[in-house]
Parts: sequence; structure tokens; C-alpha cells
Amino acid sequence: MSDVQVSIMYYPYLCISKLLDMTDFRTLPKITTHVLQEMKLKGEKIAMLTAYDFSMAKIIDKAGIDIILVGDSASNVMAGNETTLPITLEQMIYHATSVVRGVDRALIVVDLPFGTYQGDSKEALQSAIRIMKEAGASAIKMEGGKEIIESVKRILSAGIPVMGHLGLTPQSIYKFGTYSVRAQEEEEAKKLREDALLLEKAGCFGIVLEKIPAKLAQEVSQSLKIPVIGIGAGHHCDGQVLVLHDMLGINQDFSPRFLRRYHNLFAEISGAVANYIHDVKTEDFPSEKEQY
Ligand code: KIV
Repeated sequence: MSDVQVSIMYYPYLCISKLLDMTDFRTLPKITTHVLQEMKLKGEKIAMLTAYDFSMAKIIDKAGIDIILVGDSASNVMAGNETTLPITLEQMIYHATSVVRGVDRALIVVDLPFGTYQGDSKEALQSAIRIMKEAGASAIKMEGGKEIIESVKRILSAGIPVMGHLGLTPQSIYKFGTYSVRAQEEEEAKKLREDALLLEKAGCFGIVLEKIPAKLAQEVSQSLKIPVIGIGAGHHCDGQVLVLHDMLGINQDFSPRFLRRYHNLFAEISGAVANYIHDVKTEDFPSEKEQY
């Protein structure tokens, strides 16, 4: 590997290591929706990542992440489905329960999966209650604006914090037809602005904006009092979210422009496994010291 490759691959990691050395995250406050609101007021950016299991959640919580999203992207990265649609409420609860066990500080937000809230606000509330009660999550996230506002209000009225999600909403992929940038035309941008305001007025504590023009995301972030977290929505949002497996380079099949890879874990893990296979086949492992 050349020096240039080394610096590209590891420089961001070294920066983060320095940050970890300087900051004692144990002394930082536990993240609540109120803390997020204060962060927006202070202009402090919010860092959010996905996690779907105990071990990864524990690592990113200890590293100081503010919000952990148990995303329905678990359907893609954990289960290998092409879309987020197949994942069930039971499967989301399983992932969320595992994440909750690993986390001390971050706010844990769990996606309501497709088909558990769109039709009927009563069913939506039941789904949200199951996630809060059975998994012990702190909040839920739902995709859509005006179309789902009754469900959003009903869940909020039960005291469950709700995060909205507008722009590219992957649960509607069959309506959109592609994963391309949303709200480029004024009509869709206008609806997005209205939906964002509607979600804030209803009482959502935050909104994710996915894959929309940076200028529109800036406008929405500045017009709302609640934090706006972007993914492919530019640097003016109040925070950023990425899928953990994408930013760690575990998943090699997905390279949108907005994705920054902080590691190449696919190569690291493949290399380690190849070494293990070699050591087993050549009878190098286990050695005298590694047996009883
Ligand atoms: O499911 C997910 O991972 C998400 C993020 C892309 C925001 O909703």
C-alpha cells in the first residue's frame, strides 16, 4: 500500500483518535430530546449513526455519538434485502433491544417499519408502544409528512417522542422509482417545506432530511426551531447521519456522492479472515501456548 493510500485511509481515523483522547465522553450529559434542542440553540452540530446490534452500539456510544438510529436500513445491511420494505416490527424490536443493552449515553431512535403506521393511527400508536415498551427505546422515527400526520399526533399524544423523515423516504421507493435526489422541482420543495413545518407544529423533536438539495435543507434548517439532521442534504443542517456499515466501509456496494468512508473494514476483515484460514490450514494455529 502506498503512503498516499495510507493517509487517505487512516488520516480521518487519526483525527478522531485525537478527539477521543481529548474528550472524556463519560462526563458528557446523557442525550435527551431537550439536550438536542439546546445543541441546536448553541449551534453545536449533532452526530448520528445507525446501529442494529449490541456490540456496534456499545462501540459508537463509547466513542461519543449523540443519536443512535436503529434504522430500517437493517433490512438492507443486516438482512441483505434490496429495500427497507420487508423488515417487520418484531425484527425491528429485536435489533432495538440489542442496541439498548449496549448504550449508556446516546439517544436511541427506532424506525417504525413499513406497513406499521401508514394505514391507521390506532395501529401506528400500537406499533410505537411496542417499540418503547419491548425494546426500551427513547424515540421513534417515521417517514412522511401530511399523509401520516394523524398517526404522528396520536403517537406524540401518548408521550412518545417522534422524529420525522422527509425528502428521499426509502419506504416509498416504489412510488419514486429511483433513489435519486428529491425535491429538485419547486412543487416538491414546497411540499417538503410545508411538511417540515407541519411536523414541527405537531411536536416532533427533530427531522431527518434525506438526499435533497443543500440550499433547500439550509432553508428548512434555518426556518425550524427543532434540529434537522441531514443525509445527503449538505452541511447547513444541524447534524448529520450516516449508515454505520457504509461509513466504515463494510458495505462496498453503495457509493453515493454524500457518503464519506472513514475506514475500509471490508478489506480489514477479509485480510484477518484470510490470515486465520492460512494459519488453520498450515497448522500454525493453535500454537502450544494457545491450548490446554
Ligand atoms: O434507516 C435508516 O438508516 C435511515 C437513515 C438513512 C436516515 O433512515
